[in-house]
Amino acid sequence: MRLDKYLTQLNIGSRSQVKDLIKKGLVTVNGQTEKSPERKIDEMIDVIICQGQTLSYQDKVYYMFHKPAGCVSATEDRRDITVIDFLKKENRKDIFPVGRLDKDTEGLLIITNDGDLAHRLLSPVKHVEKCYLARLAHKITQDEILRIEQGLDIGEEKTTRPARFAWHTEADRDSDTPEALLTITEGKYHQVKRMFRAVGNEVTYLKRLSMGSLTLDERLKPGEYRPLTDIELETLKGELYASRKTGDSI
Ligand code: URA
Repeated sequence: MRLDKYLTQLNIGSRSQVKDLIKKGLVTVNGQTEKSPERKIDEMIDVIICQGQTLSYQDKVYYMFHKPAGCVSATEDRRDITVIDFLKKENRKDIFPVGRLDKDTEGLLIITNDGDLAHRLLSPVKHVEKCYLARLAHKITQDEILRIEQGLDIGEEKTTRPARFAWHTEADRDSDTPEALLTITEGKYHQVKRMFRAVGNEVTYLKRLSMGSLTLDERLKPGEYRPLTDIELETLKGELYASRKTGDSI
């Protein structure tokens, strides 16, 4: 890869800023000052020092994104803005959202270039728990809650796996438009909406709060993102890569 491209990918600066740094002699490759932005480097082997700081190439990136309503969970779309449009300044062509949230759904979305981690998070055998906040159009009865918790027919080959239901707040028990927390371990198309629809209700607002051990950082406003912390990433990987009995949920 070209030296200037490498520095840009590491967010040292824009392409023209990093070219300037190189031309000013502030970058060394394997101990030698390098003044040519076109210099080809091997980012896995060469030691690059920029303004006294040794750079290390992080080939995998992981972002926590607070998806707003109105954008689609895709890398490109001809009609709508995509979740990746919010990360333009990262200047990466290889990142993608892990799984999909509906256009009108908000909340936690992981954006990465780590295909293996994405595969594990979405794998139907891993049963990663996903917790959603759902606002309902109508009251919901204990019997309907029980059916949702036990698993019900949403028009798929099999009924849904057991789920956990909780009121968002105590006041929701008596509300005409209650808010519920639903934790599921699958990711079927429109699954939460279809589960409530199967008991005659309707979801009017939906937000994903967590995926496995990862909880949406409420300091992130819709449309904002940040890298996962080392602890978040280690904990998540610990869950996804640990060998465990099939059937357990994460
Ligand atoms: N379930 C839904 O119905 N929609 C989503 O976006 C996610 C889960």
